[in-house]
Amino acid sequence: MNKNIDMDLSSIFVIFGGTGDLTKRKLIPAIFSLMHEKRLPDNFTIVSIGRREKTNESYREEMYEFVKQFSRFPLNDKLWHDFSKRIFYKNFDFTSDNKGYEKLDLFLEKMDSKYLTGGKRLYYLAVAPEFFEGIIRNLNNNGMIKKSTGWQRIMVEKPFGSSLKTARILNHNISKLIPEDDIFRIDHYLGKEMIQNILAIRFGNSLFEPLWNANYIDNIQITSNELLGVESRGGYYENAGILKDMLQNHLLQMLTMIAMEPPVDFDPESIRDEKVKVLRSLRPFNKQSFKEDVVRGQYGKGSLNDAQTLGYRQEVDVSASSNTDTFIALKTYIDNFRFGGVPIYIRAGKRMNTKSTEIVIEFKKLPGINYYKEFDKIGPNLLVLKIQPVEGFFFRINAKKPGNEFKMEKVELDYCQSCKYINDSPEAYERLILEASKNNSSLFTRWDELEYSWKYIESIEKEIKGNELNYPNYEAGTSGPKDAIHLIEKDGRQWWNIITGEEV
Ligand code: BG6
Repeated sequence: MNKNIDMDLSSIFVIFGGTGDLTKRKLIPAIFSLMHEKRLPDNFTIVSIGRREKTNESYREEMYEFVKQFSRFPLNDKLWHDFSKRIFYKNFDFTSDNKGYEKLDLFLEKMDSKYLTGGKRLYYLAVAPEFFEGIIRNLNNNGMIKKSTGWQRIMVEKPFGSSLKTARILNHNISKLIPEDDIFRIDHYLGKEMIQNILAIRFGNSLFEPLWNANYIDNIQITSNELLGVESRGGYYENAGILKDMLQNHLLQMLTMIAMEPPVDFDPESIRDEKVKVLRSLRPFNKQSFKEDVVRGQYGKGSLNDAQTLGYRQEVDVSASSNTDTFIALKTYIDNFRFGGVPIYIRAGKRMNTKSTEIVIEFKKLPGINYYKEFDKIGPNLLVLKIQPVEGFFFRINAKKPGNEFKMEKVELDYCQSCKYINDSPEAYERLILEASKNNSSLFTRWDELEYSWKYIESIEKEIKGNELNYPNYEAGTSGPKDAIHLIEKDGRQWWNIITGEEV
C-alpha cells in the first residue's frame, strides 16, 4: 500500500450543499488532488446532498468541469474514471425533509457494507450558517452522529454565528448534540502552506525567536488584498462586511500564529491554548482608538485589467445605499509581555489593485546608526512572510556596497517557495479534509478562540454603528482609501508591499 495513505480516510465524506460554489470550486477539486497524490484509500467515497434533482451521472458530469478547472493536477480519463465512481448524489431538502435523512442514513449504511467504511463519516456543512444547527439536529435525531461504530465528525464553514451572541447560542445548542472534539470549525487560512510555515520559521530558527518581541520588533503588518469583489455573495456580504468576512477569522488567525508563545508540544490543544491567549490579550477598541486607528472603506466603480467594474452598491443583492465596509485598515495592540507597545497594522480589502497576502515583521533600527553618516540610507530589517499568491519569505538586511567608498545598500534574501516547488503546495482544503479525517484539530478553530475573536470584533462594530461614512470612498482597482496610508504615515512608518514589489 502507498505509504501516504491513511486508513482513517476509509470513510464517507458527506457534503451538505453539494451544488454550491464551495463544493464545486474547492471541495471536489481538493479531494481529486488528494486522490491524485495517492492519499486516499480505494474506499473513500463522497456523497453530495443538494436540493436540486440530479442523477449520479449528471452530477459527476458537472463536477468534471470544475475539477478540470480548479484542481492542481491535470485530469486524465483513467483518473477521472476512478475518481468519479466514488461520487454519489442525493437530493432532498435538508432543512425540513426528515424522511430524506432517514433514507440518507440507510444509503450510508449500505455504503458502509459495500466499501467497508465502518460508520466513519465526515459531514461537511457547506451551507449558509443559519442551516448549521438544523442539519446537526436532524443528523442527531436520526442517530447519524452517535453511531455504534466508526466515528462521526462535522466540519463547518465560517462564519460561525454572526455576532458574539449568535455564535454563543449556536455553540450552546450544537454542543448538546455533538462533543466539541468532533466539531471542526474551518478557517481555510489555517490550511494554507505558508501559514503552516509560520510555526516552522518561528520555532525552527535560532535567529528569529530571540528577537521576536517588543525589544526588537518595531511593528507588524498584515495585509490581505483581493482583486475580487463580492461576486454573487452580495446577500451574505451585506451582513458580514470585511469585518466579519475577513478580520474576525482569517486576519486574526494569522495574527495568532505570529504572536503566540511556543506551545509545549504540537498537540492541537497546546497550540490552540497559546493562540487563545493572544486573542484574549488583544486590546479592544474604544471611541477614541476607533476614531484614530480604524479606517473603513467601500469600493466604487473602477477598472481592473482594462475592464470596467461595478461599485459595491451596484452588485447583485446589495442595497443601492449600502454602508457595508469592503475595506478596513487598523492599528491594534496585544497587551502582553512579549508584544506590549508594538503596533500591529492590519488591512484588508476587496477590489484592490492586486491579490496579495503578506505578513511583515519590521525590526527596530539600531540606535548607533545615527552616528555614522554613511548609514543614513539604510532601512529597517524586514522579515516578510509571503502567504499568497507567491509563497515564500523575504528578509531584508543592510550591507556594504562593493567599492572603495563605504556606502551601504539594502540586500534582499528572497526565497520563493512556490518557484522551487511548482504545484506542490496543497490547496488549503486538501489539508483541512485530510487533517479532519485524521482527527487532528490543530488547524481548526476551537470555540474559545471564536468567542474571543467575536468579542474583539464587537468592540469595533459597536463604534461603527452610527458612524456611517460617505460611501463609496475608493475606486475599484486601487489601493484603497487614502486614509489607510495616513493611518501608518502619521506614526512615521509606511506600509510595505513586498509581494507586488512596490516597496523593496
Ligand atoms: C473567504 C471569504 O473566507 O475568504 C471571501 O468569505 C474571501 O470573501 C476569501 O474572498 C479569501 O480567501 P483566499 O484564500 O482567496 O485568500
